[in-house]
Amino acid sequence: MELKKKILCIGAGYVGGPTMAVIAKHCPEYQVTIVDINNERIAAWNSEELPVYEPGLEEIVRQQRGKNLFFSNDIETAIKDNDIIFVSVNTPTKAYGEGKGMAADLQYWEKTARQILNHAESSKIVIEKSTLPVKTALAMERILHSQNNGISFDVLSNPEFMAEGSAIDDLEKPDRVLIGCQETETGCQARDILVDIYAHWVPREKILTANIWSSELSKLVANAFLAQRISSVNAISALCEKTEADIAEVSRAVGLDSRIGSKFLNASVGFGGSCFKKDILNLVYLCRAYDLNEVADYWEGVVRINDYQKKRFVLNMLTSMFNTLAGKRIALFGFAFKADTGDTRESPAIDVARHLLGEMAEVVITDPQALDNVHLELGDLLDTGRIHPISDPYEAAKGCHALAIMTEWGLYKQLDYEKIFHSMVHPSFIFDGRNILDHNRLYEMGFNVYSIGKMPMTHFGTELL
Ligand code: UDX
Ligand code: ADP
Repeated sequence: MELKKKILCIGAGYVGGPTMAVIAKHCPEYQVTIVDINNERIAAWNSEELPVYEPGLEEIVRQQRGKNLFFSNDIETAIKDNDIIFVSVNTPTKAYGEGKGMAADLQYWEKTARQILNHAESSKIVIEKSTLPVKTALAMERILHSQNNGISFDVLSNPEFMAEGSAIDDLEKPDRVLIGCQETETGCQARDILVDIYAHWVPREKILTANIWSSELSKLVANAFLAQRISSVNAISALCEKTEADIAEVSRAVGLDSRIGSKFLNASVGFGGSCFKKDILNLVYLCRAYDLNEVADYWEGVVRINDYQKKRFVLNMLTSMFNTLAGKRIALFGFAFKADTGDTRESPAIDVARHLLGEMAEVVITDPQALDNVHLELGDLLDTGRIHPISDPYEAAKGCHALAIMTEWGLYKQLDYEKIFHSMVHPSFIFDGRNILDHNRLYEMGFNVYSIGKMPMTHFGTELL
């Protein structure tokens, strides 16, 4: 079959890579190209070891690569050749200047807009895939139309709602696909082209269209609502620990109300990931810019509780381990921000490791996918000599005073904790930051068990000490 229609994606990261792989799989008449300024990343996408770990991704990439899915670093040619361009470059929180620590850093995104403008020889549909502040599409259109060269650009907003670790499932069976456009004739035509692409595998009733600002705002609000649920349950977990209520029982009772729903009510050491904190701070910044300070304060509380939860976790370790962690060896089980991903952006394990190092502890870190990132995330503290990445969890636990579950990897539920207990310093402590282990069994083995939102189970005062 001759390939005629062409799609380009600028940015081959966690969003661009999986999304384009799934589009290529379901749209055989399209040729899908992904470009990136990072040559190493492109080389990895073209190799056997993909730069992004997602269950099911490798299989699709292997099937489509070279057929209708191509990874390239020739951005200039790709822009010339393709009329449908997805943009999924990174938009981190600004680390400098006005809005530092709050606003989105749009430098990569603006560079991309200018690259498109400089190399385009025909009209293009430009699709915002990265999460962006509301009204970014307007700025993008202004840049794209700044040369008045007869080429027209239609900007669409098509935020990605997939979650890492389940990206392929989420892309294959999305709850909804959202497409926002300017309500002009060409804007609506562009929207319809994108609707047709998704309609290859997504039922029409799940493809929502909206005005472009609603679309941009919906992404920020969806993430803010999700994060708010976690902060709400985490705030109550602190109260449970004081009152003998059990957060799992409370979550279950609350979640069975069909108006509330049971998902995203797992108490934890805190949420991480590249989106939640960034998007909420973005929302807060936006509200402050419109002088909506009460609204900004309300949403900022979600991030404040998340920081509190991480600090509280370490404080709990400190007080329960006799008010000193200096020289004690503590193994963090998990470094990724959630299971089934190698991504460590904003992972609670980073903050916990930093607090523990601040208490002069020896910090052992283990993770099945994310261990390489220890150097990246804690690079400034490596010369303390107190960070020890060890891939085998049994080795990691050896000689430790405490274990702390940071990531809910299935692997950690299946370990032989009896064996681990005997290799540790006694009294031995487990702090289950994800409430995934069998706490009664661990207690019976001899561990002192601390979890989130439950009363601790300790042997203090018994012969085990
Ligand atoms: C999130 C959104 O879910 C997704 O729709 C959006 O496109 C991107 O941001 P992601 O950050 O990849 O996805 O993962 P998510 O599953 O939402 O988890 C975020 C964090 O919350 C993780 O650290 C996770 O462990 C934590 N979490 C999640 C909890 O602590 N408790 C829960 O009940 C659920
Ligand atoms: P996300 O989680 O949003 O996908 P990532 O950081 O994983 O974010 O991916 C964004 C990708 O965009 C990175 O691989 C980065 O190199 C790439 N990128 C950033 N700016 C440009 C640009 N101007 N042209 C091409 N690629 C870019």
